[in-house]
Amino acid sequence: MQGRDLLTLADLSATDIHRLLATAKTLKSAGVKAAAAAVSQPLAGYTLAMIFEKPSLRTRATFAIGMQQLGGQVVDLQAEHLQMGVRETVPDVARNLERWVDVIMARVFEHATLEVLAEHAAIPIVNGLSDYTHPCQILADILTMQEHKGNLAGRKLAYVGDGYNVANSLLFGAGKLGYHMAVGCPEAYLPPEHVVARARGLAAESGATLELLSDPIATVRDADVVYTDSWISMGLEAEAAERERVFPPYQVNAELLRHARPDAIVMHCLPAHRGMEITDDVMDGPQSVVFDQAENRLHAQKAVLLELLTGGCN
Ligand code: CP
Ligand code: NVA
Repeated sequence: MQGRDLLTLADLSATDIHRLLATAKTLKSAGVKAAAAAVSQPLAGYTLAMIFEKPSLRTRATFAIGMQQLGGQVVDLQAEHLQMGVRETVPDVARNLERWVDVIMARVFEHATLEVLAEHAAIPIVNGLSDYTHPCQILADILTMQEHKGNLAGRKLAYVGDGYNVANSLLFGAGKLGYHMAVGCPEAYLPPEHVVARARGLAAESGATLELLSDPIATVRDADVVYTDSWISMGLEAEAAERERVFPPYQVNAELLRHARPDAIVMHCLPAHRGMEITDDVMDGPQSVVFDQAENRLHAQKAVLLELLTGGCN
């Protein structure tokens, strides 16, 4: 995978995804904190530039910590200084950065910004969240699901809430890896048709089944995984009042969870809005694996950096 971009999981082969997951598991086995950094520093001399057009805790922290644990350096380009597309064009930002750094991770409002960066920089571009997808999140999520459920073939993931970037990426993950997925959203908030069509095209190869529903109970019925995300994603704050009106029937609470398998795990990419898309008792309950997901961001993204920069562990 050396030299490639990571803009969506749909662009990777199933073999690429399995390779990233295997590398993440190897890196995780080396430990999380000081122990991980002491093992080896294969990215010594490499530099990661981070661009954030929107706020972040997990993505910012785990990319920085991961790069440092692998021996590399990080430069966090502050959006107010960068003013990408305002102070200078996105292609010109790309043409500058490729002269100084080895990889760019960007969190952007519009996915097209990532595509323009990728087109104009010869170095790898990694999507740290766009309005379209969140591939690094889903790599960490698949790792987490495998840790708790083993082989995902035949498993059912139920996504309840807003059919936006995280749901889109989970659909692409299903299409690539073959887990079954039901998406339950208010009708106006189902994932866009072009995403569903692309995921269905992938699913035809992997054998995944993809269901789009509006009934949250039917969505989670017999699910092995119940997943939710914010009802008001970053950039959509102007729609808050309408969203707070339509989404409450899709809250992941103890009553909804009763319809999933008794051993179902509960997932959330975080940040959570407790009392909105997920209740405290579920988020803090025994079925919740949300902080395993957060930890696995570190391992999954170290694998991404290593594979894109050097071709991997071997
Ligand atoms: N899940 C996630 O990407 O978290 P941040 O927005 O804090 O980076
Ligand atoms: N859907 C959320 C994900 C945050 C990690 C957002 O875009 O804000």
